[in-house]
Amino acid sequence: MNPNEQAGGRVLAVTSGKGGVGKTLVTANLAAAVAAQGRKVAVLDADLGLANLDVVLDLHPAFNLHHILHQGIPVQRALMKAPGGFSVLPAGSGLMEYSRLTPALQQGMRSVVAELAAAHDLVLLDTGAGISEVVLDTIAMAHEVLVVATPEPTALTDAYATFKVLATLQRRLRPLLLVNQVTRAGEGLTIAQQMQAVLDRYLADVGPPRLRMLGELPLDESARSAVRQRRLVLQCAPGSPLAQGIRAQALRLAAWLDAPVPAGPRPDGF
Ligand SMILES: Nc1ncnc2c1ncn2[C@@H]1O[C@H](COP(=O)(O)OP(=O)(O)OP(=O)(O)O)[C@@H](O)[C@H]1O
Ligand SMILES: [Mg+2]
Repeated sequence: MNPNEQAGGRVLAVTSGKGGVGKTLVTANLAAAVAAQGRKVAVLDADLGLANLDVVLDLHPAFNLHHILHQGIPVQRALMKAPGGFSVLPAGSGLMEYSRLTPALQQGMRSVVAELAAAHDLVLLDTGAGISEVVLDTIAMAHEVLVVATPEPTALTDAYATFKVLATLQRRLRPLLLVNQVTRAGEGLTIAQQMQAVLDRYLADVGPPRLRMLGELPLDESARSAVRQRRLVLQCAPGSPLAQGIRAQALRLAAWLDAPVPAGPRPDGF
């Protein structure tokens, strides 16, 4: 069967170069905002070494990805309903064996992602930071990749490295960019333009990726407060600039979900 004919939802990997830029917070809140549109959304905690999506959402999982991959627990048993109306597949934390994905583990993860995609409109993969093999292997399971960066120079340098590696190793030539924690409106777009100029200049030989700007989100105290309360920003500060920004991004994601799947083989044969 042509993989492009396979039914099922879209899989989006959320990643970053630098750690701590807001991937997990953005992923969880975007998931809730897209679910609020009446779509079925699942988030897989794909930060296999330092999983914490369950902590951020105050979930107390009995089973996680580890049980699925090693003990044959069905995906449905480990899938949890998160506040916000989406599903979460937690991962166990501190599992050193996942610092590398063996071919068997890769195959197992791929089946889990495919099963989630078959039952949801959107599957978000909350990956770990950096460009380790395990992160790249996980991104390879997604149709598209969203890179989260902040305006900090170190986060931008690391985002550049991520775009470069993704373009070179996975031919990811249309990655999405989200600039989190901006301190003035429009800062994200300026950063995207600067990033594009750097990519054009230094990756001319491999064919520079063309960034697609998902948008920007403001630096907002409600983020820290939500994480401390283990709640969604959308729920504990629904009127905050950050919550408004997240809902706006979710509308853009919805447009992407409704657009036809691009032609050509998908990265992992979905
Ligand atoms: N828009 C924002 N405004 C203010 N603070 C934010 C914002 N987004 C995230 N943060 C803060 O950054 C912290 C780290 O966020 P989060 O855990 O989502 O990052 P991460 O990229 O998933 O980290 P890791 O790389 O460790 O997985 C949060 O606890 C939150 O306090
Ligand atoms: Mg995280």
